[in-house]
Amino acid sequence: MIDWSLADAYQNLDMPQLVDTCNGCQACGLAETRTKVVVGSGPSPCPLMIVGEGPGEQEDLSGLPFVGRAGQLLTKILGSVGIDREKDVYIANIVKCRPPGNRNPEAKEVNACRGYLIRQIQLVQPKILLLLGAPSLKSFFPDSPSISKVRGQWMYADVPYSDTQLYIMPIFHPSYLLRQASKEPGSPKWLTWSDMKEVKSALDFVRDFE
Ligand code: URA
Ligand code: URA
Repeated sequence: MIDWSLADAYQNLDMPQLVDTCNGCQACGLAETRTKVVVGSGPSPCPLMIVGEGPGEQEDLSGLPFVGRAGQLLTKILGSVGIDREKDVYIANIVKCRPPGNRNPEAKEVNACRGYLIRQIQLVQPKILLLLGAPSLKSFFPDSPSISKVRGQWMYADVPYSDTQLYIMPIFHPSYLLRQASKEPGSPKWLTWSDMKEVKSALDFVRDFE
C-alpha cells in the first residue's frame, strides 16, 4: 500500500533539504512547463496531513498549495469544523509541479514524484491522512473502488515513525465540490461536511494522546 522503501534515497534529507531537492527536480516533463515547484505548506511534524492532486495556476505562480478557488473552499471547509488551516494541517500534492492546463497527472509523473511525497509523510509524521479526490486516492490505493463509494471511510496503514497505525480517509476534492451547488442532505457538499466532522473528532482523539 504505502511502499516506504521508495523514500530510501531521501532518508538523509530534512524538510528544508527536501524542499531544495524538489525545487531543482528534473525527473519528469512537468519541470519544463512549471513556474514554481509546490512542495507543501504547514507545520511539520503535524498530526493532520492532506494530499491533493497537483498545483493549479495560482499554486504554480505562488509556489503554495491550495491557494486558488479550490484552496479557498478547502480552507473554509476545514474552518467550518474548527480546523485552522495554517496551524493544524500540513498540505501537499501527489505531484509537485503543475500539469499543463490542469490535466490529471500522468502515471509516470506521479511515480517520479512519489519518493518525495513518501519522504514528506515520514517527516510530517501525520496520524491522520486525507486523500483529496480520485487521483490522490488511486495513487495510494490503485485497486480502490471509486471515490464516491469509499469517501468518508477510514483505511489504515502501518507507518515506520509510530507504533500506532496511520488513519487514512478519502474525501471529495474541493474542485469537484465547486461544481456542485446543492447543500441538501446526501449531496457531495453535505457528505464532505459530515466527513470533516468525523475527521475533527479523530483529530481531537489523537491529540489527547500526544
Ligand atoms: N488542486 C490540488 O489538487 N492541489 C492544489 O494545490 C490546488 C488545487
Ligand atoms: N470525482 C473526482 O475525480 N473527484 C472527486 O472528488 C469526486 C468525483
